[in-house]
Amino acid sequence: MKKPIIIQGAMEIEVEYLIKQIENIKKVNIQGYEFYEGTMNNYPIVISKTNCGEIEMSVATILGILKYNPIAIINQGTAGAHDLSLCQHDIVVGTSCININSFEAMAKEKGQGSNPLSWELKTFKDGIDELIEIPASEELIELANKVKHKYTNGKVVFGILGGGDGWNKEWDRIDWLNKNYHTLCEDMESIATYTICKKQNIPVIGIRVISNNERIKKQIYDKTIGLDSQKFAIELCKECIRSNK
Ligand code: 5AD
Repeated sequence: MKKPIIIQGAMEIEVEYLIKQIENIKKVNIQGYEFYEGTMNNYPIVISKTNCGEIEMSVATILGILKYNPIAIINQGTAGAHDLSLCQHDIVVGTSCININSFEAMAKEKGQGSNPLSWELKTFKDGIDELIEIPASEELIELANKVKHKYTNGKVVFGILGGGDGWNKEWDRIDWLNKNYHTLCEDMESIATYTICKKQNIPVIGIRVISNNERIKKQIYDKTIGLDSQKFAIELCKECIRSNK
């Protein structure tokens, strides 16, 4: 039996289209998490509905790895733009991911308030005193590059995903992340998948569609745009299957 590809989506609306694309579907419940086993062009595929946020994504990712021993994991969904050039429907292929909520604050005395723009992002890991940027699989990035022309609803850009629980709506903070850490967008799940896959040596990539740009007034969150990252993920998945045959 070939090792399956897992495609993850946090919400119902972020997996609906994926589920419709796979054949011989079987819904499986593992510890309260939904997985949909099936095939695409006779290749095994598992769609994982993870729920929102880092913790949920961590649990779903570990469960998926233990049960299916996947050849690769595609994490996909919506994201808020950090870069001013990105609009709704644009796709960000995450060549790497950083944790935008892992920080050390500067010391302040009573009454001195809080200044998030003076915080420093860093990874709290033994012997490491800097922010760790987790790369996606080179091979998956290459495959994403091959299929990008098939996406016509917006631009496709390659760069850094910002991940972590939270929703930034402050213009200056988003700008600070974008300028200092070069994040193109933010979401609440990708950092969990990148972190776990790196540790488990599983090729990973994040595909995020811009559903909101909080710095541009008319670009408010629209979760239906999540359809677009599913479409991109399916094309990427087909390309993975072709390259595996
Ligand atoms: N900030 C954080 N998460 C966002 N999401 C979409 N836009 C943003 C944003 N600006 C995604 C998260 C989560 C869902 C509520 O929307 O990844 O799954």
